[in-house]
Amino acid sequence: MADYDVIVIGAGPGGYVAAIRCAQLGLKTACVEGRETLGGTCLNVGCIPSKALLHATHSLHEAEHNFADMGLKGKSPSVDWDQMKAYKQNVVDQNTGGIEFLFKKNKIDWLKGWGSIPEAGKVKVGDDVHTAKNIIVASGSEASSIPGAEVTIDEKIVVTSTGALELGKIPRKLVVVGAGVIGLEMGSVYARLGAEVTVVEFLDHITPGMDADLQKQLQRTLKKQGLNFVLGAAVSKVETLKTKAKVSYTLRKDNSEHTIDADTVLVATGRQPFTDGLGLEALGVTLSKRGQIETDGHWATSVKGIYAIGDAIDGPMLAHKAEDEGMAVAEVIAGKAGHVNYNIIPGVIYTTPEVASVGKTEQQLKEEGHAYKVGKFPFMGNARAKAVHQGDGFVKILADKNTDRILGAHIIGPAAGDLIHEVCVAMEFGASAQDLAMTCHAHPTYSEAVREAALACGDGAIHA
Ligand code: NAI
Repeated sequence: MADYDVIVIGAGPGGYVAAIRCAQLGLKTACVEGRETLGGTCLNVGCIPSKALLHATHSLHEAEHNFADMGLKGKSPSVDWDQMKAYKQNVVDQNTGGIEFLFKKNKIDWLKGWGSIPEAGKVKVGDDVHTAKNIIVASGSEASSIPGAEVTIDEKIVVTSTGALELGKIPRKLVVVGAGVIGLEMGSVYARLGAEVTVVEFLDHITPGMDADLQKQLQRTLKKQGLNFVLGAAVSKVETLKTKAKVSYTLRKDNSEHTIDADTVLVATGRQPFTDGLGLEALGVTLSKRGQIETDGHWATSVKGIYAIGDAIDGPMLAHKAEDEGMAVAEVIAGKAGHVNYNIIPGVIYTTPEVASVGKTEQQLKEEGHAYKVGKFPFMGNARAKAVHQGDGFVKILADKNTDRILGAHIIGPAAGDLIHEVCVAMEFGASAQDLAMTCHAHPTYSEAVREAALACGDGAIHA
C-alpha cells in the first residue's frame, strides 16, 4: 500500500491549497517543501512582504503629502528601514506560521527537504523515498534574467524581487528594468522612501497586456509620484562596479545607445517555471519550449499519476490562479469535477492607486471584431474617493453591444483590487451591465463607481 494518496511537491499558494483540499476530501496527504517555512514565493518573498512594504510606504506618503491638508500637522515620520523590514518579516512569519497551523489541523505531513520523482508513484526527499498514488508538482517559478542581456544578479547591487525586499539600505538611485507588476510595485516602494527611480521598459507602454486606458492613467499617476520612465528601451547590459551599477540600453526608435548609473538595479523582466532537480525529463514528463510542464484539461502531465499546477504550467503567473488550480486538481484526484474558469482571473497591481482588471481589454475586443460598448466613470465623481485624496482614476466596464453581457472591467483607483470581484462574480453568473446597475450599492462607497460605470453602459451615470 502506498504511504500517501497524494504527495504535493511545493508549498506555495498552489501546493499548500492543493494539499489542504486533498486532505479535506479525505485523501492521505503530504507536502514536500525545502524552504524553512511554508507558503512559497508568495508568502516568503513575493506578494505578502511586498504588500507590507507598500502599506508602510503608502502610510509615509500619506503623512508627507496629505496629512497637513487634513489638519494633521507636525513633523513627518522619519524612516527606520531596519524596523520597516522587521515589520515586513513579522507579517511574513504570521502568514507562513498560519499555513503550518493549517497543515497540522488538516493532518498533512510536511516532508521537509527538496523533493524529486525517481519514478511515477515515488517521491524522494533527502534519503527517504515515499510512495504516493498521485503526485502534484507545484514547484512554482523563479525570476528570469533580462533576455539577451549581459547581467549578473548578486542580490545586493543587481537584484531580483527577492533581493529588492532586503536591501541593506535605501538606494539613492534605483533603476528598474521592466515596467511590469514587480517593477512598478517595488519601484513605488523605493520612490516613496526617497529613491530616484527610473523604470526602463522595452515596450512603448507599461504593464503589457493591460487595457491601454489603464496603462496611460497609471503611468501618468506614477510619474506624478516621482517615477521616471524610459520606454521603448532594450536593456543590453548591466555592469556591476564596486558599489554601483551601470545599465546600458538602446532606444528602439533610433537605435541610440545610453547608460544610467544606479546604486541598485532591480531586474523585473518576468519569471520562468522552476522545475530543477525534480527529474521530470528522465521520467518522460513533457515540457514546453518555455520550460513549462505540459498538462491536459485536468492538470495531468504526460506521465500517469503525475499532475502539475501553478507557475510551473501554462497561464498567468498569479498566486490566485495557482490556488484555483490547487483546489481543482484535488477534486479531480478525488473523483470530482474540478474546474477553473480561466476567462475570469483578475489581475491586480498594488500601487496607489491600485489597478485591477478582469476579462477582455478594449484592444482585444477590437482585434476580435466584437461589437462592444464602454461604460466609464471617474473616481472624481465618487464622494468617498475624494474624501481620501484618491479621486484620480476610473472604472471602465466593457459590455456586449447587443446583449449587454459584461465582457471585461478595468479599474484604477482606491481599493480597485477588491472592487474588481463584484464584476468577477457578475461575470461568473453571465450578468449584464444592467444587472450591476440595478443592484443597490451603499453610499458612500468606492463600489458606487462600479455601479456608475455599469449605468454608463446604459442610460448614463448619475454623477458624471
Ligand atoms: P512582467 O512580465 O509583468 O513584466 C516584465 C517587463 O519587462 C515587461 O514589460 C517586458 O516588456 C519588460 N522587459 C523584458 N525585457 C526587457 C529588456 N531587455 N529591457 C527592458 N524591459 C524589458 O514581469 P514581472 O514584473 O517580473 O513579474 C513576474 C510575474 O510575477 C508576472 O507574471 C506577474 O504577474 C507576477 N506578479 C504578480 C503580482 C501581482 O499580482 N500583484 C506581483 C508581482 C509579480
